[in-house]
Amino acid sequence: MAAPDFAPWRARAEAALEHALPDPATAPQRLHAAMRHGVLNGGKRMRPLLVYATGTALGACEADLDAAAAAVELVHCYSLIHDDLPAMDDDDLRRGQPTVHVAFDEATAILAGDALQTLAFELLTTAPQPAERRVAMLAELARASGVAGMCGGQALDIDATGKGGQSGFSQVKSHSDPLFRLADLERLHALKTGALLRCAVRLGALAGNATPAQAALLDRYADALGLAFQIRDDLLDIEGDAATLGKTAGKDAAQAKATFPALLGADASRARLGELSAVMQQALAELDADTGALHALARQVVERSH
Ligand code: IPE
Ligand code: IPE
Ligand code: MG
Ligand code: MG
Ligand code: MG
Repeated sequence: MAAPDFAPWRARAEAALEHALPDPATAPQRLHAAMRHGVLNGGKRMRPLLVYATGTALGACEADLDAAAAAVELVHCYSLIHDDLPAMDDDDLRRGQPTVHVAFDEATAILAGDALQTLAFELLTTAPQPAERRVAMLAELARASGVAGMCGGQALDIDATGKGGQSGFSQVKSHSDPLFRLADLERLHALKTGALLRCAVRLGALAGNATPAQAALLDRYADALGLAFQIRDDLLDIEGDAATLGKTAGKDAAQAKATFPALLGADASRARLGELSAVMQQALAELDADTGALHALARQVVERSH
């Protein structure tokens, strides 16, 4: 089967983001410019694609999904700006460009992230769904962004960083009393990265009025996809190069980050990706909906080169 062309959904997401962002000609110009730099810079738009793929699989029309698609991407972009700050991963390259704190300054980067986060919720209040469902969508995005989601995962990531010593987490594995086990790492990844990806699927499911049975299968798909996405990100950090990734490679080992390759090795990490791929396919096979785009996104997540 030919892979679906995701360009039209990406273009919709770009247009919705551009429309939601503040005018760069108005004050405070520097903050507005930083917000735009952090968003309109060529991300893959995986989270919007998941909103469109899930919502349309259940019969929603694209126009009913634009606000949710852009809202979850705004939270993601905010998370990247803060993730790159010197106090966190201290990265100077993102999506092939200088990170926001490098292109502007740290204070502006912090504020740009803050403002993007609140803009996401403001935008989602304008979603065309009936009020009760819109509130459910707002609650979903709030949970996925906060301590039970991305922020909580970032806290676990910072806490785990460096605990494996200079050579990383492979050392920890051999400890008789491991500081950090696979279950801990899966939880970290499920929160820091999985939560927003699952939220994208859930927003699409809410917009498409999923039945409880459909929602449960979509959750199973999304949980596997979220973990697979971060395992692939961890592998790309050791296998990729800056030109392809658009971000500096090799940072995880240098900073002794808690990653799958550091804990299990690259081969076992790839094997885990294969297992997760099977989980996604199985969940979609049971789903009573048009799953072509969701299948294609599952493939992209495990095969992607950036
Ligand atoms: C990068 O996310 C950060 C992680 C959650 C692993 P993406 O790989 O989706 O980054 P962009 O949005 O395409 O730049
Ligand atoms: C980032 O994980 C997850 C979030 C931004 C919440 P990483 O730190 O691995 O992402 P990259 O590699 O910098 O994109
Ligand atoms: Mg990080
Ligand atoms: Mg990072
Ligand atoms: Mg990474």
